[in-house]
Amino acid sequence: MKKVLIIGASGLVGNTLYRILSSQYQVEGTYCGYPCECLVRLDISDRRSVEKVIESFNPDCVFLPAAMTNVDLCEDNKDACIRVNVEGVNNVVSVIKDHPCKLVYFSTEYVFDGKNGPYSEDDKPNPINVYGKAKLEAEYIISSLLKDYLIIRTTGIYGWEPQGKNFVMGLIRRNRLKETVKVPVDQISTPTYVEDLAVTSLELVHSGKKEIYNVAGSSLINRLEFANFIADEFGLNKRLIRGIKTEDLMQKAARPLAAGLKIDKISGELNIHMSSAVEGLKLMKRSMPDGYAG
Ligand SMILES: NC(=O)c1ccc[n+]([C@@H]2O[C@H](COP(=O)([O-])OP(=O)(O)OC[C@H]3O[C@@H](n4cnc5c(N)ncnc54)[C@H](OP(=O)(O)O)[C@@H]3O)[C@@H](O)[C@H]2O)c1
Repeated sequence: MKKVLIIGASGLVGNTLYRILSSQYQVEGTYCGYPCECLVRLDISDRRSVEKVIESFNPDCVFLPAAMTNVDLCEDNKDACIRVNVEGVNNVVSVIKDHPCKLVYFSTEYVFDGKNGPYSEDDKPNPINVYGKAKLEAEYIISSLLKDYLIIRTTGIYGWEPQGKNFVMGLIRRNRLKETVKVPVDQISTPTYVEDLAVTSLELVHSGKKEIYNVAGSSLINRLEFANFIADEFGLNKRLIRGIKTEDLMQKAARPLAAGLKIDKISGELNIHMSSAVEGLKLMKRSMPDGYAG
């Protein structure tokens, strides 16, 4: 592998991949609505632009973390979600399918219904919201049209990011503003530290692995437990963190409740370490710019 294209390098996962991969490969990265220096603009729903970027760079491997990731926004804007998360993926797949190029696609535990997680790679998907259905549809497109692909299912990704969109960054920011944050007590998952996800994804590529792998943190916990770990690590005021049932949160999109991803397959095949929530938060704190970690 020499040339790597990262579509969605302005996001949490893409940015981490960009940083790690740039020291080893010739890397091109793209953004869509959040301009970043060094990145090329690309909207994957525009087939012609996808063709242009891929054909002019001619990568050996495309990492595709790009997606419309706001689950409630997807629920309210189904057409936009399909345009990006299904048709956009289809555009990328159609362009690379006749090239000797691997695709690494990032999917989600939201392909499951959350009735009996945590889930392994062999469990039957049954998404319960627009975002989950679209991501599963994209998985089908990839697995039916490509031979050399990796579908990496992950969940609850956190880490330092300037945009501050992920759960940990949001909780820290709002707590410091003295806002009360309601956190679901019944959404169980396996939060994943972004550096572990990026390093392990690369390890999967280096080992020549194909098809579906779960890559997730090693702690199966509910959101309130996670919020309390965050509060401990970052010295937040726990009185401003309030546990609440999902049904009382009035979120637009239904959430898989008993979810989370099992990592037995990857742990059995590769020598990797997926951090627990406490370990990941400590690593995240160490990675933050001076003055931010508190
Ligand atoms: N975050 C999670 O907890 C989580 C959990 C499970 C799975 N995943 C999956 O993991 C992947 C990465 O997630 P993330 O947290 O890194 O997401 P993110 O921070 O929201 O980043 C999304 C990226 O996609 C780009 N993008 C959005 N619309 C696009 C379009 N139409 N064309 C091209 N690029 C577009 C964004 O560009 P701009 O910002 O420049 O617009 C950004 O670079 C996603 O596929 C997501 O479905 C995420």
